[in-house]
This record gives sequence, C-alpha cells and structure tokens, in this order.
Amino acid sequence: MEIARLSSRLRVRSFRKSTTALFCPESPTCPTPNCYRCPLGQCDSHCDVECTRWIEETLFRTSLPAEEVAAIFVEPIQGEGGYIVPPASFHRKLFELAGKYGILYVTDEVQAGMGRTGKMLAIEHFGVAPDIVALAKGIASGMPLGATIAPAGIMDWEAGSHASTFGGNPVSCAAALATMELLEEALMSNAAERGEQLMSGLRELQKCLECLGDVRGKGLMIGVEIVKDRHTKERAAKWRDAIVQGAFRRGLLLLGCGENTIRFCPALTISPEEVDVGLTIFEEAVREAAA
Ligand SMILES: Cc1ncc(COP(=O)(O)O)c(C=O)c1O
Repeated sequence: MEIARLSSRLRVRSFRKSTTALFCPESPTCPTPNCYRCPLGQCDSHCDVECTRWIEETLFRTSLPAEEVAAIFVEPIQGEGGYIVPPASFHRKLFELAGKYGILYVTDEVQAGMGRTGKMLAIEHFGVAPDIVALAKGIASGMPLGATIAPAGIMDWEAGSHASTFGGNPVSCAAALATMELLEEALMSNAAERGEQLMSGLRELQKCLECLGDVRGKGLMIGVEIVKDRHTKERAAKWRDAIVQGAFRRGLLLLGCGENTIRFCPALTISPEEVDVGLTIFEEAVREAAA
C-alpha cells in the first residue's frame, strides 16, 4: 500500500490513494467473481466478467473517479474468503482496466503464492504480470518473512520513505532461499501433481456425497463448499464445522474458510499415499456429519 501511494503520489491528488479499506474506509471493495455463486447473477456459460465492467461503469462513474485510484489490490485466488478461483479471463480484464487508467495492479499472494498452486505465483495461471506482488507465509516455510516485489521504477523511493524494524532478518532470508530451491527442485511440481490427485479424488466423492456443492482450486489450494442441497446451494456452515471436527478426531487437520467452505492446503511435501489417506478420512467425516 505504501509503495502504491508513493509511486503514484505525483500523478494524483486524493488521499484516497493512500491505503485500503481497512485503514481508509472510503476505499471500496468490489464484487468478488465467484462462478458458483455469481454476485451479478451470471453463470459459467455466459460469464462476461461483468464484475470488472461494474468497476468501470458503476464505481468509477458514480462514486470513485478512476484518476483518484492509486492501486487495485486483488488476491489471484481468494483465500480466507472461501478459496474462490475467479473465471479465467477475470485478471486479464481487470489488469487491462487498471492499465487503461494508469492504476497499479497489486496481487496479494500471501496465501496463494510460493508454489502452492503448482506455479511460483498463482497469478501466473492467469497470464498477467502485476505491478506489485505481496508475499509472506510460505516464502520462508513458516519463518517470519514477507516480501514486496516490484520493478525498479516503482521501488525507487526517496531515502527514508520506508522502514521496518525486523525487515530482512538473516535467518528468515536463509530459510526463504532454501525454500525457493526446494520449490524449484521438486515441491512446486509435487503441488501440481498431488493437487490433481486430490482434486480428482474430491470430484469422485462429490458424485456420491450430495453436500459437496462445489470443488474448486489450483494445485494444493483446494476448497470444497458444503451445502444442504445441491440445487438450492443453501450453505451448511454447521455441517462444515462438524466435518472439520470429525476429520480432526480421525487425524486429519482441515480448516474452514468463507462461510461454509473447507480448505485443503496441505504441506507441499505431501505424498500420494497421504493424499489417499486424507481422502478416506474426509469421506468418513462427511458421511458422519451429514448423516
Ligand atoms: C491473502 C492474505 N493476505 C494477507 C494476509 C495477512 O497476512 P499477515 O498475517 O502476515 O499480515 C493473509 C492472512 O491470512 C492472507 O491470507
């Protein structure tokens, strides 16, 4: 956020450029593209990525002039919100929109990045090269480290513009270098392969377990939406929580995200046998919870 603000300072006048909704309430959030529950009533077969048009035709026209926007912040694949994969053309269209108005494109790869989706950055699945990338979590295999990546033109600030007490911790940096080596050697391709295995196992289970409403994801970032009824898509948050608990009792650690989704985000070292064991336990927990 700080980089986006500094980088665009000369081109803009509004303080709105300073930060996100968390610290600056007038920064709006936009409809999340969600092919399973499209907020704009579209569906896969006629999705024209209406959500990006909404930004230009409604938001920019009525309440937030495009020239007052420093940056668009977007997760390539939504994490805490429910492991939601946007339609294939979403990022390209949003990126083009940002380019049209000179707005920086910032992707938050804190959860999806560092090999988890089978590529180093999740945004690579969408053929877009963002202006700024935010990374953390997997970057140093659990050691505390975050990174902000941008080209020199954006990172070239005046001395003293930015500081961090614990930035660049040498032990964390060494862990990050070792992590990247492991990712490039084997773990990124393991994430892609085991992700396919897990995804196809979950899709098989979906055929016979009615409450698995949607199975989606990339690599080892997979979400399963738990619903009461496949047709109405009524959310089943309590079943979701019961499944997580049932799996835990059997030795499988899962975590919820969004209102009624279960996330599968295992260690990238996971083996084919471990995927199979996880699927068996998951099936048992689902059958128990939804019985
Ligand atoms: C996508 C995303 N961005 C940012 C954060 C916040 O990261 P941190 O806790 O390191 O500030 C999280 C935390 O879960 C996240 O999932």
